[in-house]
Amino acid sequence: MIVIASSNGRVGIDDAMQVLKNGGSALDAVEAGIRPVEANPEDHSVGYNSWPNIMGELELDASIMNGRDLTSGAVAAMKGHPYAISVARQVMDNLPHVLLAGNGAERFAREMQAEQWDELLTPEVVEAWRKKLRDNMPADVLETLGDETPLREWVKLATDPERTYSTVNFIAIDKNGDMCTGVSTSGWAWKYPGRVGDSPIIGAGNYADNRYGGAACTGMGEMAIRANTAHSVVFYMKMGMSVEEAGRRAMEDLLDLGGDYIGGMNLVALDKDGNHAAMTSMTNRTYIFQTADMDKYEEKDRTFVEIPGRWARIGE
Ligand code: GLY
Repeated sequence: MIVIASSNGRVGIDDAMQVLKNGGSALDAVEAGIRPVEANPEDHSVGYNSWPNIMGELELDASIMNGRDLTSGAVAAMKGHPYAISVARQVMDNLPHVLLAGNGAERFAREMQAEQWDELLTPEVVEAWRKKLRDNMPADVLETLGDETPLREWVKLATDPERTYSTVNFIAIDKNGDMCTGVSTSGWAWKYPGRVGDSPIIGAGNYADNRYGGAACTGMGEMAIRANTAHSVVFYMKMGMSVEEAGRRAMEDLLDLGGDYIGGMNLVALDKDGNHAAMTSMTNRTYIFQTADMDKYEEKDRTFVEIPGRWARIGE
């Protein structure tokens, strides 16, 4: 039995391991591990109190995948419900669908009586959003900001590629050898309303297959969507590579991506035998893991794979 997670999973990895030690499933462990991250007000990239979109609204994405039969559930651009991973799980358990977005996800969350909080942002986060707009938008645009305001240029200006995307990843294997992967995020800070990243896209930010392994991503979701990064890691393992080789190759695939916007990428990966690896294109990034015989998680450096970034700005 093992749990691995991105380092912001520190607040939840004990809960996940406790589920496994009590004989619970990898699915339950991943959900239990991610919920405390979603509730953590200090983490501004996942769940409650995260950086909102450019209109100041919090929109959450999440997905969960069962490696035993490749069933999965996901929600995207969902407002009002902090525990996106649990709503994703309910999609998997209750619907013939995989992914619900926006109003449909919110309607379903209400139908399933998922936790609904009126206030999902603290005044400090709201003020950080206001300041970002004040620093980047002309006063006349800011004063009339509304449904008809063209946002495309302001999104580019307000976005800081170094800090706008983080996310949480969990992967677990239970006593039966079943694997589950889960991902939850608020996506980019100050994103265009309705923007959906890789986290709820099965194959992009999340993939699990008991026969080979699982992988999950954090970083610039657009890149993982275009390269199908989480699935690539698992596919490379299927082709016979070690988890470390597979992760590296999936990262190197991102070097083929063209276009004006290339940022950072991170992934965690676990093979069916419990071997793990994690990659990053950024500096000083770690991940955490815990096996059933460990009292506490251990934190390890990620393997660095260079991906030169580029970021177009207006006028460039
Ligand atoms: N990887 C999270 C996102 O881009 O939304």
